[in-house]
Amino acid sequence: MKGIILAGGHGTRLHPITRGVSKQLLPVYDKPMIYYPLSVLMLAGVRDILIISTPADLPQFRRLLGDGSDLGVRFSYAEQTEPRGLAEALIIGAGHIGDDPVALALGDNVFHGPRFSQILRSRLPHTEGCLLFGYPVQDPERYGVGEADEHGRLVSIEEKPRRPRSNRAITGLYLYDNDVVAIARDLVPSARGELEITDVNLEYLRRGKAELVDLGRGFAWLDTGTHDSLLAASQYIQTIERRQGVRVACVEEVALRMGFIDPDQCHRLGAALSTSGYGRYVMDVAEAVRSERQKSPV
Ligand code: DAU
Repeated sequence: MKGIILAGGHGTRLHPITRGVSKQLLPVYDKPMIYYPLSVLMLAGVRDILIISTPADLPQFRRLLGDGSDLGVRFSYAEQTEPRGLAEALIIGAGHIGDDPVALALGDNVFHGPRFSQILRSRLPHTEGCLLFGYPVQDPERYGVGEADEHGRLVSIEEKPRRPRSNRAITGLYLYDNDVVAIARDLVPSARGELEITDVNLEYLRRGKAELVDLGRGFAWLDTGTHDSLLAASQYIQTIERRQGVRVACVEEVALRMGFIDPDQCHRLGAALSTSGYGRYVMDVAEAVRSERQKSPV
């Protein structure tokens, strides 16, 4: 399974903040936004990830994330010169995808919820059709909107409909089999001039191969698209982290718990950031896992 994170666009709704920095590098409380979708992919066991952004922003993503070897994963990078639509990521990423299935994550989507990683791992490797994740929202007209039958099969999907048929927003995490590359290549731009991910999903629906998993009301899928929602997302993460004493989407911890790196490496990564509370947390997690493993070696 290959991974792609799409982190381009102009972020105009967050101007002037995003005139100088990519939206997906903005903080959501204590870490860059892209850490959230990145940890989702890593928790799903995806280790080979292409990051797509604008030519101007790509160097900052490289500086932040490097080649991934520190985390026991592999990052590669590609440019999207203009925001020509989410589905273009699948064309830009065709070489990276090769003959594999792919998980596409939007770099500005923040997920947090119980058993999400188990749900993902239980569905992978995903080699048939497409798998989408729906989330109930009060303003579905702002999103792709889907409907499923009682077996979880997608029966309708529309992009930002004026009159939504359900309150189920389609979230920015898409799992596809390898047919997706050919489907994306056959797309024509929509009325707004974009290669729409909803049109990719519609093609899977037509083929009877699209599934919609409901994330349900106990889950958090947070919006980061406006100044207010970005602040609210930070406050949500801060509240959870302070209350529980854990960090959400700490990629070093995810790498450790997934077995991509060992406690020594995790400790080194934390030590390099030790002037921040985040870095000290990474070191503490490394110590805790080391002593757990010494008590009960596998
Ligand atoms: O967040 C989920 C929603 O994402 C889905 O429900 C919609 O079906 C899907 O179309 C998309 O809707 P948005 O209105 O959020 O799309 P937006 O154009 O804002 O793009 C989402 C992110 O992807 C944003 O951070 C910018 C980035 N992007 C967007 C485009 C069009 C790119 O990197 N390249 C692009 O070409």
